[in-house]
Amino acid sequence: TPDNSTAAVKFVFRGTLVHSTPEEALQIREDALLGVDADGKIAFIEDGKKLQDISKSSGFNPSAITQLGQQEFLMPGMIDTHIHASQYSYAGTALDMPLLQWLNTYTFPVESRFKDLEFAKQVYTQVVKRTLRNGTTTACYFATIHTDASLQLGRIAHDFGQRALVGKVCMDRDNGVTDYSETSQESQDETNRFIKELLNQKYPRVKPVVTPRFAPSCTEPLLAQLGEIAKNNNLHIQSHISENLEEITLVKGLFPQSESYTDVYHRFNLLTNKTVMAHGCHLSDEELVLFRETGAALSHCPNSNFSLCSGVLNVRNVLNHNVKLGLGTDVAGGYSSSMLDAVRRTLDASKVLKIQDPEHKTLSFEEVFRLATLGGSQALSLDDRTGNFEVGKDFDALRVNVAAPGGPIDLIQKEKPQILLEKFLNLGDDRNIVEVFVAGRKVVPF
Ligand code: GUN
Ligand code: FE
Repeated sequence: TPDNSTAAVKFVFRGTLVHSTPEEALQIREDALLGVDADGKIAFIEDGKKLQDISKSSGFNPSAITQLGQQEFLMPGMIDTHIHASQYSYAGTALDMPLLQWLNTYTFPVESRFKDLEFAKQVYTQVVKRTLRNGTTTACYFATIHTDASLQLGRIAHDFGQRALVGKVCMDRDNGVTDYSETSQESQDETNRFIKELLNQKYPRVKPVVTPRFAPSCTEPLLAQLGEIAKNNNLHIQSHISENLEEITLVKGLFPQSESYTDVYHRFNLLTNKTVMAHGCHLSDEELVLFRETGAALSHCPNSNFSLCSGVLNVRNVLNHNVKLGLGTDVAGGYSSSMLDAVRRTLDASKVLKIQDPEHKTLSFEEVFRLATLGGSQALSLDDRTGNFEVGKDFDALRVNVAAPGGPIDLIQKEKPQILLEKFLNLGDDRNIVEVFVAGRKVVPF
């Protein structure tokens, strides 16, 4: 008998599912039935052979099932835990300097242009569309210091159906080079206005995130205020940490009372289980322990770390410390907006460590697949909603056709799902991502 306590089943897929669990980096179910209800939640996952029983108990018509092809599978949507939407216009350029010079030379002048709402709308529309096409169902965005433009980014993500955390950037320290900064009072007031106005929109899947740019851009009073704001509103927090050695030296000089870079954030209550910090290439083991104790997460951004010659994060060591970790593109320090690129660069970074130390245990493609999906959802504390295929979670998914006509992959013979996934991760692109779903809504094709 139909269970009237749950929403009606809206659509059903039959075919191969690939996803991760905390126990298994890659779990494959062949010939599965996955039903999605009218609220966009996964209503059931069952064996294809049980079609008759399930259709009876769930009240859907078996002829309305979408049968996936032999070369197709469903996987969870990918989660970009760190991307600067405001830097998308110059992605793929300006990669010839280390971090601090790169910020002053390229980044701050471009970000200051977002006082122009038309420019902001244009860039933000493009970055949301591009990342959705690339299979990013959830993005954790940095915008700029401009509240109204940051609110536009929230609206655009909502309109296109992307799940998003959106941060109005805070930076009240004079960087001595550009006029791109705010006073402490402006930063605090505008952060409060941003949070209030974004929450007032009641977008179901777009949330504000408290965003001190990084310690060197912020004074101690502002960091303290932002810690308070996040705590009082139970909000997410994002920033950068220990990306490059010159930056770490700068932080030591600016915050002489702090024991470490991590301690700077910790002292101002900015490390919580809803915090995600980008990079962390040079964190000590003691600092990783502080991450674990506070529940704060790291975002690994290998394209950026290579492109700006920042460092090579030892992901294995982070995982051994039980610190939550997701992957990020870090556009435009990272030149690619694709999470598939983040997967590949993560594997490269792991192999660089192996070249340096033959004892190093490299990451498997299955482990990196998990970091791009479930790991990201854990890092953003969204794993009660998304990250893998579990009954009751939102259906955030990619329909992948590994042999998509006109696509980049040639299949010579029939392959097992594990091989299909490996080929997609290493060779695939948006041509293989034929449909994208967020909370049961088909968001690609637009
Ligand atoms: N640290 C502070 N701001 C930034 C930024 O915009 N990009 C990167 N990669 N690191 C930062
Ligand atoms: Fe960044």
